[in-house]
Amino acid sequence: MVTYAEIQASNALINDATAPRVAVFVGATSGIGKLTIKAFIATGASMRIYLIGRKSSEERTNSFIQELHAINLKAEVIWTEGEISLLAETKRVCEVIKTKEPRIDLLFLTAGYTPFTSRRDTAEGLEISQSLAYYSRMLFILHLLPVLDAAEAPRVISVLAGGLERTSVDLDDIDLKKPGNFGPMKAQTQYTRLNTITLGKLAVDNPNVTFIHSWPGDDESGQRHLFQTTSAAFGGRGVPWNGKPGVNSLEKQADGLFLVNYKCDCTPNAKVVSLLREKAQEKIWDHSQEVLRPYL
Ligand SMILES: NC(=O)c1ccc[n+]([C@@H]2O[C@H](COP(=O)([O-])OP(=O)(O)OC[C@H]3O[C@@H](n4cnc5c(N)ncnc54)[C@H](OP(=O)(O)O)[C@@H]3O)[C@@H](O)[C@H]2O)c1
Repeated sequence: MVTYAEIQASNALINDATAPRVAVFVGATSGIGKLTIKAFIATGASMRIYLIGRKSSEERTNSFIQELHAINLKAEVIWTEGEISLLAETKRVCEVIKTKEPRIDLLFLTAGYTPFTSRRDTAEGLEISQSLAYYSRMLFILHLLPVLDAAEAPRVISVLAGGLERTSVDLDDIDLKKPGNFGPMKAQTQYTRLNTITLGKLAVDNPNVTFIHSWPGDDESGQRHLFQTTSAAFGGRGVPWNGKPGVNSLEKQADGLFLVNYKCDCTPNAKVVSLLREKAQEKIWDHSQEVLRPYL
């Protein structure tokens, strides 16, 4: 476990050189994303943050942004409206950001919820929580990869349930559309595996980018995710780290995809993830490409 004192000591070292200069937060109108932005702003470092959310959250988020500006005059937080459960909207928002930013240092993805209701689909035919937790997140990454890749030490963090993968991924019904195949537990576990598998492939294909799939905790979440976005513990780049180096999902002390739990431990879940990689990666990648292709 990385203790809270160690997290705070590392975060105290964040400055203009180690903070992301440009960051995109998707889903920071509440919860972990919001706490992480607050923790970033409190470092006093200079940065520009695009905070993306839906129209219904605009008013309260603008009040939050005003609070942030009062705390850190060197930080600019830009409200960017988008109904990001829709892939066409995700594409539009990415295009807006790409016209403004040649480099992005951090993409922080938290939008989503556990679907305790019956299945509800977007106008594009995807189950809403799946679109938020998986397809929209992957589309953000794919669209922003060129500008992430242009940054010095870019990082992508997807907050869901990294390390909690199980082997029994449903490959015959990846989107859980068959009658009776959809429920809160099944959906959460399926979307977790989809995240880990696709992030793992993206990490191998994009070695300049550090990927983290995190399983979050509660109160300490803002500081712990600030640590995950900045510390050299994950891949060697960032705020210097003298503790044990993180182990990636290929069980190596190297950059790549890190599955990080609420104690900031790396949990490669090696047996399960290597089996999923072998048996499921190709099918999940091909299926995801088919869904995302019209919006790429
Ligand atoms: N594995 C675990 O144990 C565990 C524990 C906690 C959280 N999580 C997951 O981690 C992620 C982050 O958690 P959190 O506590 O930060 O979540 P949260 O505060 O409940 O929500 C995060 C974001 O999702 C957005 N969102 C929700 N429904 C939406 C919709 N229909 N359309 C567009 N945006 C929508 C929210 O927007 P609005 O502000 O507009 O509502 C908010 O920006 C979530 O995916 C959550 O499910 C996992």
